[in-house]
Amino acid sequence: MKVIGICGSPRKGNTEQMLQWVLDSCNAGGADVELVRLSEIKINHCTGCDVCYGTGKPCTIHDDMEELINKMVGADAIIIGTPNYFANVSGLMKNFIDRTNPLCDPPLLKDKAAAFVCVGGQPINAGTDVVEQIFKKYCKDMDLVNVGSVLAKAEDPGTISKNDDTNLSCTNLGNNILTRIQ
Ligand SMILES: Cc1cc2nc3c(=O)[nH]c(=O)nc-3n(C[C@H](O)[C@H](O)[C@H](O)COP(=O)(O)O)c2cc1C
Repeated sequence: MKVIGICGSPRKGNTEQMLQWVLDSCNAGGADVELVRLSEIKINHCTGCDVCYGTGKPCTIHDDMEELINKMVGADAIIIGTPNYFANVSGLMKNFIDRTNPLCDPPLLKDKAAAFVCVGGQPINAGTDVVEQIFKKYCKDMDLVNVGSVLAKAEDPGTISKNDDTNLSCTNLGNNILTRIQ
């Protein structure tokens, strides 16, 4: 079992901590896990050429997304983690999502498990819930099986680490992922 976590925060903050909790839980259950920080790799913007869409042809851009696509295709489960930026995913995450267009049609991630973590500084129902809807739509577009989400409230980096409820929710999400892919 291989589980990959993809972090869309530009800092070592709350999103990464939540992803790490989910990955630790998967690892404790026997999965190979990997955290990918989008801030540490070079992914150019989608140019909209649409060469990939509906054709099975690879992206025309040659950058770190090639390796990440291979990792996603090789994984059993993919966890998306992003901070809430203006009731949306971060720019790093949106850029990554657009570059997964080659995996959309044909649906190369079909029936893989997907999960989501998101954190915002304001109450969850003031926009972080909106970001979750974006993830749900992405799962439908990509034929991913949505195993679940953890949404949290934290502003400064590191503050989520004191939140035992979120830790437990992330651990439970990891267990649910394992149940799905075992
Ligand atoms: C550009 C920017 C926009 C943000 N917009 C929102 C927002 O609309 N709603 C919210 O709840 N938090 C917002 N935040 C706060 C972050 O979501 C919050 O600090 C979060 O903990 C960041 O996660 P990280 O530590 O993983 O980077 C914003 C932060 C930044 C930098």
